[in-house]
Amino acid sequence: MRVCTVIGTRPEIIKMAPLIPLLDERFEHTFLFTSQHYSRNMVEIFLEEMDVRRPDRFLGVDSSDHAALEAALVKPLADARPDVILVYGDTNSTVACARAKPAGAKLIHLEAGIRSFDLRMPEEHNRIETDRLADWRLAPSGLAKYFLVDLEGYDPATCPVVGNLVVDAYRRYQPKIEAEPLLDGLTPGAFCVLTMHRAENVDEPVRLKALLESLAGVNMPIIFPVHPRTEKRMLEFGLSFPKNLRTLEPVGYLQFMKLMTQASVIVTDSGGIQEEALTIGTPCVTLRDNTERMETVFLGANVLYDGDHRRDLGNVVTEMVKRRDMIAALKNPYGDGHTSEKVVALLADEIEAAMSR
Ligand code: UD1
Ligand code: UDP
Repeated sequence: MRVCTVIGTRPEIIKMAPLIPLLDERFEHTFLFTSQHYSRNMVEIFLEEMDVRRPDRFLGVDSSDHAALEAALVKPLADARPDVILVYGDTNSTVACARAKPAGAKLIHLEAGIRSFDLRMPEEHNRIETDRLADWRLAPSGLAKYFLVDLEGYDPATCPVVGNLVVDAYRRYQPKIEAEPLLDGLTPGAFCVLTMHRAENVDEPVRLKALLESLAGVNMPIIFPVHPRTEKRMLEFGLSFPKNLRTLEPVGYLQFMKLMTQASVIVTDSGGIQEEALTIGTPCVTLRDNTERMETVFLGANVLYDGDHRRDLGNVVTEMVKRRDMIAALKNPYGDGHTSEKVVALLADEIEAAMSR
């Protein structure tokens, strides 16, 4: 069977890292990278340190524009003559590939069915549309399957629960993460890690300024690897970081996970980091008023902070730090770290059989 994987951003490289070698081993596999993300510290560093083989083609789009991504994908997809196309998550690369799919190829959507029910987010539109265009929707959790089957009416046979590759990635690279030195000047358990890049948080100067003021109230050093979107907005709006923030360029996966495992708390608006925080047992505060990773909130591993100044972020963080032991003992709702093997087995057995019928 000919399988074609299409990804284009940092979190997709990280989550697909454990699956790519298995697809290479088992199938005639073409790997395309749209180049939606393109900076060295958003792409190359992950391919190198996670030992991911180079994509067969970098499409060089350097943009998240839907139309440009879709146009750039049409020919490479046709050239690969795939029986099935694999896409991940909710980025513009994901949905552009779903739209550009050649007739006859089947689309498989990984991390299907998660919903924030917030249509202000481009990612929510991308998830819904990709699930609609997909032939199989591989759900990361029972809740995601519930949304797909019970709320949206998809055939349950096309929506198996496989878990989340974020857990596979952590298990696979855990020894390297443990061996990674912690950044100079940090005391384990006495700092916070921050990431913030969501368009809703950083593209609007009033909102971004209010979040920075809230962060100034956190009573410990905050390590902040700054996403390129946020970097650009800070310059554009002429804003400066509060004194308790130590900013860095985006770091590689190993150093980032090292920071996360040694931090007392994580403050973020990232999707994948909410899942990772629960996986490693570090308390998480999410700088949003909703999340599509609701399992983490239901279990008490994550709390939402909507930026409302009547709630002090410093107090929210202090309360979350106390939950560490409880979180470390949780059973992971995103699976046992064997999602990649489940995906390959599904492709090789059920999906290949269904296609030959
Ligand atoms: C995208 C995804 C988001 C995901 C995030 C992961 C969409 C709609 N959004 O958001 O869901 O959480 O990736 O990080 O697909 N830039 C660089 N270098 C890079 C990448 C981006 O300088 O390697 C700059 C771009 O020029 C652009 C800005 O960052 O100005 C935003 O990039 P873009 O890909 O549009 O969206 P993200 O915020 O990265
Ligand atoms: N990450 C990283 N270096 C950083 C920040 C994040 O390696 O400086 C990793 C993090 O471990 C997670 C992924 O990037 O696996 C999350 O990516 P991002 O927040 O950009 O995207 P999202 O998950 O929100 O789509």
